[in-house]
Amino acid sequence: MITSLAFRLTKRFGAKVVLDDLALEVRGREFVTVLGPSGCGKSTALNLLAGLTQPTRGEIRLDGVRIDGLPPERRGFGMVFQNYALFPHLTVGANVAFGLVLRGRGKAEIAERVRRMLELVRLTGFADRYPGQLSGGQQQRVAIARALAVEPRVLLLDEPLSNLDAKLRLEMRGEIKRLHADLGLTSIYVTHDQAEALSLSDRIVILRDGRVIQAGTPAEIHDRPQTVFVADFMGYRNFFPLTVASEEGDTVLARAGALALRGRTVVPLRPGDAAVAAVRPEDVETTTEPPGPNVVRGTVRLTEYLGREHGVEVALEGGPTLTVRLAHPVTVGSALALRLPPERVVILPAEDGAR
Ligand SMILES: Nc1ncnc2c1ncn2[C@@H]1O[C@H](COP(=O)(O)OP(=O)(O)OP(=O)(O)O)[C@@H](O)[C@H]1O
Ligand SMILES: [Mg+2]
Repeated sequence: MITSLAFRLTKRFGAKVVLDDLALEVRGREFVTVLGPSGCGKSTALNLLAGLTQPTRGEIRLDGVRIDGLPPERRGFGMVFQNYALFPHLTVGANVAFGLVLRGRGKAEIAERVRRMLELVRLTGFADRYPGQLSGGQQQRVAIARALAVEPRVLLLDEPLSNLDAKLRLEMRGEIKRLHADLGLTSIYVTHDQAEALSLSDRIVILRDGRVIQAGTPAEIHDRPQTVFVADFMGYRNFFPLTVASEEGDTVLARAGALALRGRTVVPLRPGDAAVAAVRPEDVETTTEPPGPNVVRGTVRLTEYLGREHGVEVALEGGPTLTVRLAHPVTVGSALALRLPPERVVILPAEDGAR
């Protein structure tokens, strides 16, 4: 069991700074997810921690002791790669045994551990098959068994579910959560899928261009995004540029033309500040209230059947489009009055090159 993994890392490839003094402390048994768009440096960060790449500058400390000088096999980390990276010419059993052989463990011990690991990922009886004879989900479980076989002090997972279909992804998400808890693991999980991050994590770290731009519990990140970038990543879909008109504690009123929205602030804003109001499609509701702040009128432009709900695009009077989810069907061309509940609207500082 570890107490903490702390690192501060800078990585350049040529002139390009891929990780810019990325600092994080992970506590023992914590499940931390690093969430960010393609190219933001997620895999680079994991590869540095695993020792597969060397940092330009920085350090990694496990329980206070520097480990960044150690080769990968002496760090005691397990890694699950996005593309599984199983050895195709080795059987499932030999794949799982690989790290143990590398560490010079005895034959009997290896056989017993391989058996236990395959049982853990529910692949008992698959030891003699080759990776090519397995489904994607089974291969992924072999990759997880291989990473766990060495009893890793920290488990590193690089988008382990991205190649799986939706149903299998949900199943494996549950498996990873179960293994993390049952084995008392400390895990760092990389993904660009917000649903995965929300469901798995104790803490989410949002990365943009190699920097942490927000970190917090899933609820904090979900409900209190501090930037348009994070809000966009967390499922907010409607963004309206506005100017702050007045503030009252942690709510403000912001306007642009006829549109007036009251909403919560996470970052302090003053009258006159340029702002962006963000609201999720599922938080908008139909209303019979007269027009006023947070009540808007528009015309249905497009509808989309989503199963339990209807996705609806509404052209608001005055120009902008609002994307909403409604429980009941509406027809294209009809007029709608909608309410954006102030407690569900987040007013964020406008950022340069927003989104
Ligand atoms: N060996 C390398 N040489 C040069 N540039 C690299 C190298 N590896 C990664 N990069 C660059 O570093 C940046 C970050 O890459 P990285 O693979 O860490 O991104 P990522 O967040 O994992 O993206 P994805 O979600 O697509 O996997 C990218 O711009 C990439 O082109
Ligand atoms: Mg990657």
